[in-house]
Parts: sequence; structure tokens; C-alpha cells
Amino acid sequence: MASVPSLASTVQQRLADGLSAAVPDAASADPLLRRSDRADFQANGILALAKRLKGNPRELATKVVEAIPANDVLKEIEVSGPGFLNITVTDAAIIDTLAARAADARLGVPFNEAAGTTVIDYAQPNVAKEMHVGHLRSAVIGAAMVEILEFTGETVVRRHHIGDWGTQFGMLIQYLIEHPHELDHSSEAEVSGEEAMSSLNRLYKASRALFDSDEEFKTRARARVVDLQAGDEETLALWQRFVDESKIYFYSVFDKLDMDIRDGDVVGESGYNDMLTETCRILEESGVAVRSEGALCVFFDDVKGPDGNPVPLIVQKSDGGFGYAATDLSAIRDRVQNLKATSLLYVVDARQSLHFKMVFETARRAGWLNDEVKAHQLAFGTVLGKDGKPFKTREGETVRLVDLLDEAIDRATEVVREKNNEKIALTEQEIVENGAQIGIGAVKYADLSTSAVRDYKFDLDQMVSLNGDTSVYIQYAYARIQSIKRNAGDAVPTAHPELELAPAERALGLHLDQFGAAVAEVAEEYAPHKLAAYLYQLASHLTAFYDQCPVLKADTQEQRENRLFLIDLTARTLHQGMALLGIRTPERL
Ligand code: ARG
Repeated sequence: MASVPSLASTVQQRLADGLSAAVPDAASADPLLRRSDRADFQANGILALAKRLKGNPRELATKVVEAIPANDVLKEIEVSGPGFLNITVTDAAIIDTLAARAADARLGVPFNEAAGTTVIDYAQPNVAKEMHVGHLRSAVIGAAMVEILEFTGETVVRRHHIGDWGTQFGMLIQYLIEHPHELDHSSEAEVSGEEAMSSLNRLYKASRALFDSDEEFKTRARARVVDLQAGDEETLALWQRFVDESKIYFYSVFDKLDMDIRDGDVVGESGYNDMLTETCRILEESGVAVRSEGALCVFFDDVKGPDGNPVPLIVQKSDGGFGYAATDLSAIRDRVQNLKATSLLYVVDARQSLHFKMVFETARRAGWLNDEVKAHQLAFGTVLGKDGKPFKTREGETVRLVDLLDEAIDRATEVVREKNNEKIALTEQEIVENGAQIGIGAVKYADLSTSAVRDYKFDLDQMVSLNGDTSVYIQYAYARIQSIKRNAGDAVPTAHPELELAPAERALGLHLDQFGAAVAEVAEEYAPHKLAAYLYQLASHLTAFYDQCPVLKADTQEQRENRLFLIDLTARTLHQGMALLGIRTPERL
């Protein structure tokens, strides 16, 4: 299916044609078209070309303009400055292009012709542990990347690399053996995520206390680790209980986050146990890893500790145990060889960047990664409190993710309730539903709207504000359009390219035109914050448009229909864009 070309790409093409007509050996030169404040677009590419041809840029620019035949897209091209082109398009070209986009279910977003298979590693909490804001970031950013990549035609495999293996399970399982009813549920009724987490928490604390104070328990716990690793049935069955109990909790949080996490995609660390020995064997036999003081290590020229000595990646410890690295290396083999990935994307805290740098480099040396199969860590920064310090409660404890989400929902529900009036007339149930969608949307948007690698402040007041760069602002823009459409009577959104456009209509239209290019760029760069920025600008253009251009009270029926057409396409674009970020757009607010 051919995609609908944007107006920007049409203009770009006309200029490129003009360039090669004027200067035949400039066939491959890029006109470097940009949106501009002075005109609709500016092209800066002639400067570089003139330099290459050792010619006068203004003369060359004039020649290019003369070589472009009269047409109904370009209204005016003016040579300015040292040799820029300022380009104004016709009103009809804007509306015609948007009409073609409106007729396309994908709103003109092109499929990526070079699409492959991406495995995304995201939303990876740890068994028997509370989820914190770091897990929120991975889940939110990862889920957005899943949607964005799938929308551009990529085959996406989701992997939730949960922490479900390690020596701490010896202690937990041993404690459960000695206190067999600690994970029992009081009633037959379904356990809530909260209950599941609180019994896990209790058990974790009690077993840790015993482990630290009772030498004999410690010995029994260590022996239990050996049983677990040896695959002893009773021990494995108890381990499974911890995993299942934790999943009840994880799923309740993901559910609150309005996120669709599927059980089949949860492949935790334990899922690679069968591959660990072989991974080590391959690395050792190929010489990628070497024995050093009994441990199997990979060394790097550029990774050194503070003392200047090299810091290796330890694939197998001297006691024979495998760690985080062996698991990640095995996961790479699985994803490349079995899942046939062409890209591996890891949405993980920036504090693990050194780990991934070493793991990726090792995989490259082993030949698992290469020019055809690439790995990338979409690293994210730390969530800070209002005071700019890592987010903690007043008591200095890590903040529980669930508490944060509940507070966000409460705050948002208040906002919705306050804005409600006789005209909107939301029922109590709608207030509650919208409150959840706005509260969760606010948390996700705050996370997604700054570049991932930067730290960001978790500030609920700012997040649920109706003004400024928030999801609430965008959601209200959407709901306002829906309200106008409901009141439009028999006026139907219809494109009228014959009409002259007001400046705010042109600005809105030209921004709408950029949607496809924006999504493509966001997918290519793994940069969801650029989609957030695009949507915020779109909502801002809409606000300016409302101030200057009455819709239902427009002068003529044609103008009314054309403006309805513009806001309808805006609403669809906002809805689609927010959906890609995992954020809902309530119909009535
Ligand atoms: N469970 C880990 C944590 O909480 C994140 C896992 C990241 N993914 C990976 N393949 N190592 O820090």
C-alpha cells in the first residue's frame, strides 16, 4: 500500500527536481527543507551545493527557482540571505494533502520499508520485591516503543526479563519450608496484588532477619540454593510459588498502569538457565572469555577501575556460579538465534550502562551481534523528588509505585470533578473513569516527555496541571474537539480546498502535515519524547486556532465544514499519537 505523501515531501521533491534541472550534476543534492517562521518552509541546501561547485549561491538559487515550472503547490519561492529559499505553499495544497491523509486509516504514517524484528526488553521487576519508580520508567517507555515500532511495521517481540533467580531464593524458600503457611491466603477469594505483595514483603523481611542473625539458618539457606540450582523438585515447586505470587502483584500494577503485559512474554532470568553452561563453553573455546583466578572473564581495553586495573565482565564466578551477565549473554543468543531478531532494544536504567556496554561488546566478539543484528540500550535516568534528590519518602524509604499511582489518580479525579459542570454533566462513574485515565496518563506523559536519559522530577502538581506541557492539556484539547463535533448539528467535516485559510489554520494544517515524519523519526531514534513534543505542539496550535477561528460560528457553511475537517483530523491525530504513547483520550471532560 502506497502511503500518502506529506506536503513537505512533495515540496522537497519539487525542489530536488528544480535542482537537477538547473544543475545536472547536482542530481543527488539534498535541498535541506525545514519548516520556517518566515515562510512555510526554508531550503538551505543550495549553500553547500554552491560551495561544492565553487559557484555563487544566490545565482545558483535563482537558477533553481527559474527551473521549477509553475504549479499549484508552490505559491511563492523567494531567494533570501546568502542563498536560502523561502517557500510559501498554496492554501489548496495544504487542504488537499490533509484530505488525502484523512482518508487514510494510518493518517499518512508510512511503513518502514526496512522493517525487521525487534526484541524489546522492558518492564522487568524482580520477584518477591516491591516495584519502584525505576520499574515504572522501563514499563512506560518500553510499552510506548512497542506501540510505535509496531505501528511502523516492525515485528516486535516483547520480553520481560524479570529477576526471578539468584541466591536470595535459598533464604526465601528455606524460610517458607520452616514456616509453611506464610504464603497461604486467608480466603478462597482471589488475592489482590496488594495482599500478595504484603505477604511477600513480610516473608522477605523475616527471612532476611533470620539469615543475618542465625548462623544455622544461613547454612540451611545456602544448602537450599544448591538444591534449587540442582533442580530439586520440592525446592523448585516452592520457588514457583514465589514467582506466581509476585506475578499476581506485578499484573495488578500493570493493570493499574493500563498496560497489557502477557504471560507468554514474561521470560525471566531463570528462562535461560539451560543455556548458561553452553554460553560459557562457546565463549571460552572461542577465546572471547578467559580464565582469571578461576573465574571466566572478558576483558576490555577501555574498561578500567579507579586503580587503573582492567575490570572484566565476569561470565562465571570461580565457585562455578553464573550471574547477571551470563544470563544476558544467553538471552542474546536466544533472541538472535531463536527469535530471529534484527534489533535488540533494552529499556533499562542508565546505571546499568556499563553492564550492557560490556555484554554487547562480548556478544559482538562472539559473532552474535554484527552489522545485521544490532543491540541498543534505551537508557533512562533517575526519577527525582521535588527537591531534586532521588525520590524517597520522608522516612528515607523508596517510594512504592502503587502509592504514587493512587495519588496521581486521586489528584486527577479532583481536577475532573472540579471542571465538571451542568453542561458537561459527567456521571460519578465517568468522573472516576476519566480520573484514572488522566492520572495514569499524567504519570506516563511526564515520564515520556523528557528525553529518557535525563533525570526527571516527579511533581504531581505539575503533572496534572491543565496548562503547560502535560497530558491533561492534550486530553482537554481532544475532548474539546469532540464536544464541538457533537454540537455541529448537520455540519459534516468536509475539506474545502477552494477556501482561503487564516494564518492559524495554515499553521495547524502544516503541523498536522508533519505527523508521519514525526512518527518515523521517533521510531528510528527510539525517542518517544519527540512524539510527546509533537502532540503538545499540535494541541498548542489548536488552542491558537480556537482563539482566532470560530468553528461553529464561522462565516459560511463551507468554512464551518472546513474548520470541522481541520479539528477532526487534529483529534484523530491526537488520539493516534497518544495511543502510541499508551495514553487514553476520554471523549468527554
Ligand atoms: N530486573 C532488572 C532490575 O530490576 C532489570 C532487567 C533488565 N534487563 C536485562 N536484560 N538485564 O534492575
